[in-house]
Amino acid sequence: MSDLDAFIRGIPKAELHMHLEGSIEPQLMLDLAQRNGLKLRWDTAAALRAAYQFTNLQSFLDLYFEGCRVLIHEQDFYDVTAAYLDRAHQDGVTRAEIFFGPQSFTERGVGIATMMNGILRAIDDGARKHRISAALLVSAHRHRSEADALALLEQIVPWRDRVVGIGMGGAEVGNPPSKFENFFRACRDRGFRTTIHAGEEGPATYVRQALELGVDRIDHGISCLGDPDLVRDLAERKIPLTVCPLSNFRLKVVPSLAQHPLKALMDAGVHVTVNSDDPPYFDGYVSENLIACQRALDLSRDDIVTLARNSFKAAFISPDEVAGALAAIDAYVANFR
Ligand code: ADE
Ligand code: ZN
Repeated sequence: MSDLDAFIRGIPKAELHMHLEGSIEPQLMLDLAQRNGLKLRWDTAAALRAAYQFTNLQSFLDLYFEGCRVLIHEQDFYDVTAAYLDRAHQDGVTRAEIFFGPQSFTERGVGIATMMNGILRAIDDGARKHRISAALLVSAHRHRSEADALALLEQIVPWRDRVVGIGMGGAEVGNPPSKFENFFRACRDRGFRTTIHAGEEGPATYVRQALELGVDRIDHGISCLGDPDLVRDLAERKIPLTVCPLSNFRLKVVPSLAQHPLKALMDAGVHVTVNSDDPPYFDGYVSENLIACQRALDLSRDDIVTLARNSFKAAFISPDEVAGALAAIDAYVANFR
């Protein structure tokens, strides 16, 4: 490992865009299937991993939703959350804001309390075990109706104190942010922070719509580069983009990492952060995303520090917590040998 790779792995960082259902490692997926008496289409972890070849977002979502079937009982939700937090801790993650989409499970009869209790118990154990601060972002599916999203919002209100924000993912093209105007207003009225996937496969107009919804962050957002006025507005309004470079490459949103717009966005003054999205599916946790971008885009050590600082400044944490995290980065940089 080069010095710069070690520097990247160790620097304190926040991960703000990672889907719990997309973090199930192939072996854990097989183990959970066996525990729950389910037969998967693959018998080995290697065979499952080999299936992770995608042509676009939908080809990934098909496999991702198929994988969700293995999560049924509270302990399953605990195990997948604990496994992610263990792995994130090795990557220097000290703050994790984890997306979770209950609609995949409620439609199969899994109770909301079953999921929440498992995930939140693992988050509490992760705080004790690794001193990692983790929080839940409940994510609605944009390919379902706005009424479905509003029903989900009502279901999670009892967990208001444990859900830091509400997001939205799923099939983007044909399901623009404007479809969910009432939903995002209702989320804000109930005191939740908000974020939405936009500008992953969708055009710059979807990113503009996301901005007009008044969300606190935009997930992906990279198609904004097609609209210079929009890039300027994002920079001026300091709306963070949670960018996922390996995801974009593996879903063929960009032809190569060398052509990824991450650095161009940084240079344009946009507040970008680097994240893993669905790490085993795209073959990389957050540090691997940063290391791959460093090589492909020739990022400097200062660029890496900027990205780490951006990750905490964009997190849904208090100003004191941001200040503490930035001080920890300064100390790390000063002491790194
Ligand atoms: N859900 C999980 N990963 C996603 C992605 N990259 N885009 C939209 N929805 C998702
Ligand atoms: Zn995502």
